[in-house]
Amino acid sequence: MTGAGGGIGKVTALLLAAQGAFVAVNDLDEASALSSVADIRSAGGQALAIPGDASDETVAAQAVAEVMQARDRIDILVNNAGVSVVAPAEDFLAWDRVLRINLYSQFFWSKAVAKAAMIPAARGAIINVASIAGLAAVPHQLGYVVSKHGVIGLTRSLAVEWGRYGLRVNCVCPGITATDLTTGADGMASERLRARIARVPLGRMGTAQEQAEAIAFLASDEASYLTGLILNADGGQMALHSGVMMSA
Ligand SMILES: NC(=O)c1ccc[n+]([C@@H]2O[C@H](COP(=O)([O-])OP(=O)(O)OC[C@H]3O[C@@H](n4cnc5c(N)ncnc54)[C@H](O)[C@@H]3O)[C@@H](O)[C@H]2O)c1
Repeated sequence: MTGAGGGIGKVTALLLAAQGAFVAVNDLDEASALSSVADIRSAGGQALAIPGDASDETVAAQAVAEVMQARDRIDILVNNAGVSVVAPAEDFLAWDRVLRINLYSQFFWSKAVAKAAMIPAARGAIINVASIAGLAAVPHQLGYVVSKHGVIGLTRSLAVEWGRYGLRVNCVCPGITATDLTTGADGMASERLRARIARVPLGRMGTAQEQAEAIAFLASDEASYLTGLILNADGGQMALHSGVMMSA
């Protein structure tokens, strides 16, 4: 699991471990990867830290080799690492960085895991974390929106190519969710956050636990006939045509 040192990734890693998975925890921040591993172990689960930059193809290949050496199988890959940079399109400079982390990393890890573990075993579940910004645009988040639209295309492409090997590839599109990305020090301005929440029919942000439950479901055998699915976990936001919540 990439980006599993914090936010949705950490909560998902803890949930999958509680359900019996041995979890390999990747994060750019080594200390948070180690802290997720410690938390999983103290809850009685099994985990291994594989820190590093998920957007580096060499890091992905080495991490997958390390996990294969330790366990000789990989059943689930969660491509979760992601960053958001807010700027007007005409001044947006972080194109390369955002696309590499949010989109390229998901292809690098999928390719490495499929080739080394899942295609030879003729089974496996890949869950890509996109966003509702992969389904419609959000102003001033150009790189994020483009990368997340790409994740949806990646999910569909891999699902149709790898179905014949027994692999399932699905995608979760979280709506606004309380993590460092939104409510943390480098998160969204409170006005932007309020405006986003006002467009959620359920009237609140999602929690990392709710996103983790959606990811864990797609990883489970209960989802055995689901592939190429783009699952909105957004409190109904994408169902709202007018984009504005109002009383009758
Ligand atoms: N929070 C939301 O509202 C929201 C909404 C839609 C989609 N998402 C998506 O969910 C995923 C997780 O987001 P979050 O809200 O938990 O964010 P977060 O910032 O709380 O956590 C992201 C984690 O990824 C790690 N990370 C960043 N760059 C990395 C890299 N290059 N290599 C490895 N790890 C890296 C960070 O260190 C951090 O631990 C992202 O893909 C994000 O785009 C979040």
